[in-house]
Amino acid sequence: MSNDLDTNGNLHGDSSLLSRVLPKSFYEPFISDLTKRRIEDPIRALLPLEDRPGVISLLAGKPNADTFPITSLQFTLRDPLTNEEVPVSLSEDELARSLQYSGSKGVPDLLDWLIGLQEFSHGRKRGEGWDLAFGTGSSDLIYKAVNAILNSGDVALIEAPVYAGVIPMFHAIGAEMLEVGGDQYGIDAKGLRETLENWPTDKPKPKVLYTVPYGCNPTGVTSTLERRLEVLELARKHNFLILEDDPYYYLYFGDAPRPPSYFELERDQPEVGRVIRFDSLSKVLSSGMRIGFISAPQPIIDAVVLHTMNSNLQPPTFTQVLSLRMLKFWGYDKLRAHVDRVAEFYRTKRDVFEGLMHKYLAGLAEWNTPEAGMFFWFKLKLPGSESSGAAADEGDSEAVIRTEALEHGVLALPGTVFHPSGRKTTYVRASFSLLPEDQVEEALRRLREVILRTRGEAAAQ
Ligand SMILES: Cc1ncc(COP(=O)(O)O)c(C=O)c1O
Repeated sequence: MSNDLDTNGNLHGDSSLLSRVLPKSFYEPFISDLTKRRIEDPIRALLPLEDRPGVISLLAGKPNADTFPITSLQFTLRDPLTNEEVPVSLSEDELARSLQYSGSKGVPDLLDWLIGLQEFSHGRKRGEGWDLAFGTGSSDLIYKAVNAILNSGDVALIEAPVYAGVIPMFHAIGAEMLEVGGDQYGIDAKGLRETLENWPTDKPKPKVLYTVPYGCNPTGVTSTLERRLEVLELARKHNFLILEDDPYYYLYFGDAPRPPSYFELERDQPEVGRVIRFDSLSKVLSSGMRIGFISAPQPIIDAVVLHTMNSNLQPPTFTQVLSLRMLKFWGYDKLRAHVDRVAEFYRTKRDVFEGLMHKYLAGLAEWNTPEAGMFFWFKLKLPGSESSGAAADEGDSEAVIRTEALEHGVLALPGTVFHPSGRKTTYVRASFSLLPEDQVEEALRRLREVILRTRGEAAAQ
């Protein structure tokens, strides 16, 4: 059963909000042809009935867990408040469950816990017109949501520069990617407004806007509240859905109070149900466990789960049971304490990196200080790139970064890979998450030499 329906199939929750929730029929034109052709896996569709009290199931071809060789599982968990390492083990039942098939949407008690997390973090109450599904990392869910909505030829607005990992997803569908630029305050809502207001009358309007609102990968920028509200207003006015990809939400370390997420903000909008939110615990719990979840209106959740049924059947039960054990052991407050510590860790890393950027790249590069996430996005001052205004991005970091920097033993990403159009840019993305100070220093010293050489200047040190 979906989280927003009671046993009679009715929505429940705050009535003033429910009157603003978009109806199911609203999503019909947003669903892709591929999704409309998908049919349910007849076995998986019946799996939830196995949990009905009194039912004896002869349904699924589940292997007998007694034959599995793993007999127990213990691990230690660092307490975020005391730093103490606490032993945790799975009970016999939990272990048996973790090693078995489970539903395509996710393990019910984990889904329930995560819905509670969305209430805790974003103030979106259960039953207020949204639901949640678990995925194999947020990438899995972004891929499925993009496929659920877009047909070949549909237009997708993409905040650019953009996380390079999503470009192939839109590309494979044959969607037209229209770049929406930004600055240190986030997405360029004014430019977006102009684009939409001057949209050709004979061309269908964009179906979605993809954005990374906190610590955007690659720019490190967090969109301000004003920008977010403007984008929400544009979504309503020009009828598009917002794909809010937010893996750095819990890595916000800016000095200003954190702006609310789009998912939170839309609760007070005249219409509720345009935001499709992707969360990931990759950056704060483990990237290898692949913990991602989508919070979205029911028809979008249904389309994504149907895709899972048709492809990988389900996200791993093992990961889900293990995550649930950890998360329940902590509770929401301790999870918050943990992520705050992680954010503080990255703030320190950022400060070290930036200090060394000043030492080695002052006058050779320009950047804004990131307030979330794990990247510096900086513009190299290469020959031909120092003009201002509209031509400010002329020049190209690609050869310098891909060839010369690599020959000098530094690996970073040239900015061009973050533009769906593949356009030239003098920007570079450098990650500050992993390296110790001495290695950051050496990397930036080498980069300095490379830039000086490219500029035809002798290395100063
Ligand atoms: C903006 C963005 N979205 C999604 C992802 C993928 O996250 P996950 O590990 O949950 O698939 C990343 C990972 O770097 C990212 O930067």
